[in-house]
Amino acid sequence: MVEGLHEDEKLGKAYDSVLVRRIWRYVRPYRLHLGLAFLFIPLVAGATIAQPYLLKVAIDDHIAVGDAEGLGLVGLMFLGALILQTLGTFGQMYVLQYVGVRSMNDLRTHVFRHTQRLPQAYFDKTPLGRVMTRMTSDVENITEMFASGVVTMLADLVLLTGIVAVMFWIDWRLALIAMAAVPILVVIVSYFRVRAREAFRLTRLFVARINSYLQENLSGMGVVQAFVREKENARRFEKLNADFRDAYFAAIKFDAVLYSIVEMIGSICIAFIVWYAAGSILAGVLTFGVLVAFIEYIQRFFVPIRDLAAKYTVMQSAMASAERVFSLLDTATAPGDPEAELPARSDFKSSIVFDKVTFGYSPIEPVLKDVSLQVRKGERVALVGATGSGKSTIIRLVTRMYELSDDPATGRVLVDGADIRMLDPRALRRLFSVVLQDAFLFRGTLATNVSLGDPSITRERIEAAARRVRLDVVAARRPGGLDSEVGERGANLSSGERQLVAFARALVREPEILILDEATANVDSETEALVQEGVEALIENRTAIVIAHRLSTIERVDRVVVLSGGRVAEVGTHEELLKKGGHYARLYELQYAVETGHVDEGTERDALQG
Ligand SMILES: Nc1ncnc2c1ncn2[C@@H]1O[C@H](COP(=O)(O)OP(=O)(O)OP(=O)(O)O)[C@@H](O)[C@H]1O
Ligand SMILES: [Mg+2]
Repeated sequence: MVEGLHEDEKLGKAYDSVLVRRIWRYVRPYRLHLGLAFLFIPLVAGATIAQPYLLKVAIDDHIAVGDAEGLGLVGLMFLGALILQTLGTFGQMYVLQYVGVRSMNDLRTHVFRHTQRLPQAYFDKTPLGRVMTRMTSDVENITEMFASGVVTMLADLVLLTGIVAVMFWIDWRLALIAMAAVPILVVIVSYFRVRAREAFRLTRLFVARINSYLQENLSGMGVVQAFVREKENARRFEKLNADFRDAYFAAIKFDAVLYSIVEMIGSICIAFIVWYAAGSILAGVLTFGVLVAFIEYIQRFFVPIRDLAAKYTVMQSAMASAERVFSLLDTATAPGDPEAELPARSDFKSSIVFDKVTFGYSPIEPVLKDVSLQVRKGERVALVGATGSGKSTIIRLVTRMYELSDDPATGRVLVDGADIRMLDPRALRRLFSVVLQDAFLFRGTLATNVSLGDPSITRERIEAAARRVRLDVVAARRPGGLDSEVGERGANLSSGERQLVAFARALVREPEILILDEATANVDSETEALVQEGVEALIENRTAIVIAHRLSTIERVDRVVVLSGGRVAEVGTHEELLKKGGHYARLYELQYAVETGHVDEGTERDALQG
């Protein structure tokens, strides 16, 4: 009926032993509590079944013969059974939920830890909303299984069996009449179960659509408003919302019909019993107490049968969610163990070497082609090239954000002579501080965005780093200084200000090697001056690889590597390359010569001569 049912909406088996075994690993630590839940089952069933029987005894053996004293005793027993049932039900629910919430909390933590270890390539391919769903509603679906899944279904089964047994024991003819309703009930419940399940699945599909629509449109609200798309977007949302409403309504309808039909069959069943019993009571072969007990039993009997359908659906959706969660957990992680201890510092001794590296994000399309370059300790190298020429890709490789294929034909990246694939990625990354093209800021303060919660980074170091990259100027403009609040993704900072925070974050770690992917975004000239000073502080007396967009940066480095179409086209100093009149000279004409105010007269003259 609806196309595009993807993995988020599939429902299948209600019990899968492989999945249950995997869930068990998280439940195991709480197995004593789970065992307790099983102990409550006979207690609750016994107390529930005893009550109608006590009614029968009260009516037949005491009320009918006028025995007031004995009646009081039966009344007390009835009260006792009621209290036991209530306490037992409470205890069972409590321990089940305890086990569910605790174990699924552990599972969620496990999934989060695993997600942190997934390679960058995974996040390129997977929508964030989907990863989040694994840790939120999927884990919740599994948790629900504890409240109304296997254990409660087993409890229901025990109760049903008990009720049937007692009914046959009291009066097998009446019991047979009551049982006649069961096959009809089974047919009706399973008919509606299938339909309700379909409808339920559709509502989940529409909720998923509404969520992804909301997620995208809320984060892109600026664009929506700037391009005046509110009306059109609201219309689309209305459509999604209406689909959801209709599907939900259909699901409710099946539910309501099922409930009322079960109620009706129950009543018809009672009517038959009363009709049959009336004759027998008048004939003196049946007591009035038995009739009352049967009416009570039938009412208690129909409720679990009715709820069985709902519980079955809970199990199905728990299994489907478990499958998705475990498939995320089965996604191969990037190498390196984040829990392992690392030495306090990594040392950089001699050089970084790209040795004939060919790399592509997809195997058929190489982005870097036969790239060889060397950065010696203490040297500062700028990478320049047109957009898409592969500059950022180079730094993703050297920091192992992306992995080179193991095929030796694609080349190697060496740090101090060692293939980086042989190194622990975390130890490797400790050599670097990376400032990416778009600085990502977290909610918190300027200071926490610099330290990133590292307790070994003292306040003094944060302040010193802030001064050196001129973040102190930004801080001074804001109430609270370095402790002023930063909104989500740094929304309340300008892009230049965000860069300065990222600079301080890199510098405070005093890295052996600095990697800077200069942002192309233009900033106002005042901030530009700060950013230039910041860059200078960053690369001062340090090995640095800088993807440079500023002439002022290029002039400060020892060597410029020009990339073109994924190949190294030229290498030299700014002056040498300008004189050569090749790629760099053309790039310079296009990109830097027009930057008025940053070009000093000497280089401008050079450019003209070149
Ligand atoms: N995660 C990715 N998945 C697939 N392709 C990618 C990915 N990142 C980059 N590319 C492709 O690789 C090529 C090089 O990208 P890269 O980011 O290295 O360019 P760049 O030189 O840094 O450009 P810019 O100056 O615009 O930042 C581009 O054609 C881009 O489409
Ligand atoms: Mg880039």
